[in-house]
Amino acid sequence: MSEETSNRVFADGILKGRVALVTGGGTGITGGVARALAEAGARVALVSRKIENLEPAAALIREGVGGDAQAFAADVRDYAQVERAVAGCVEHFGRLDIVVNGAAGNFLCPAEELSPNGFGTVVDIDLKGTFNVCRAAFEELKKRRGLILNISATLHYGGTPLQLHVSAAKAGVDALTRNLAVEWGAHGIRSNAIAPGPIEDTEGMKRLVPPDIKERLRKRIPLGRFGRIRDVEQCAVFLCSDAAAFINGAVIAVDGGHWLGGTRLL
Ligand code: COA
Repeated sequence: MSEETSNRVFADGILKGRVALVTGGGTGITGGVARALAEAGARVALVSRKIENLEPAAALIREGVGGDAQAFAADVRDYAQVERAVAGCVEHFGRLDIVVNGAAGNFLCPAEELSPNGFGTVVDIDLKGTFNVCRAAFEELKKRRGLILNISATLHYGGTPLQLHVSAAKAGVDALTRNLAVEWGAHGIRSNAIAPGPIEDTEGMKRLVPPDIKERLRKRIPLGRFGRIRDVEQCAVFLCSDAAAFINGAVIAVDGGHWLGGTRLL
């Protein structure tokens, strides 16, 4: 395990006995979060559209971490498929304590060129997909006084060019996070979100940030560096642990202070 991906700031086994279902492609931020939860002792169900992409990630967790990980195919836009994945997870592991909604779609597109279907597709994956998974997992989470962790963004705190569709979807994810915190908090279910800022070595950074913009972007991050997937992983492990037992409805930016925009004045 490399220094970059180590999760050793936490005591061993702080999520032992828990089962986490993580949506997303098994790579990048959600792949890192899944592995970090496994390192902390959770058993993990990986869920996304293409089982052939998930199997290697599940195998890496089993072999690299020594934890139990299984892949389940489902398009988060399709409620019946999501229900089957949740049922498969519960059948395999016997319970479900943690849901991490990381599945997301993204592309750069000016608003005037964005088709209604393009807008709807991203909202369907990011927002409706998050709702579908939470809704399908509710009864199991209620049994365990479990928790929801949504992967949001900071794009919608201001206006982000070419990202209207994603900004709208993630604003909805934040609203959903807070509403579920209120409604399902009554069942002991916590609902929180992480809003990652610019995280290096992710598909999003490679595809969405052209090299000439990258250095200008870095200079706008008060801590002077891009985030690492490990930064998001550690926040995720914390929020999924009992150390965060009274944190409910929080959206935590993991962005080095980027969205505050203060460095523009310096
Ligand atoms: N620019 C503008 N519109 C786009 C687009 C782009 N780069 N990519 C997709 N769309 C539009 C399509 O044109 C289509 O709308 P239309 O029917 O009006 O033409 C609509 O979005 C759906 O596209 P489609 O490719 O059929 O959807 P999909 O469900 O197969 O995939 C995404 C949608 C968002 C997942 C796809 O863009 C994708 O694969 N992205 C890469 C993976 C990703 O985003 N990962 C997250 C990293 S941050």
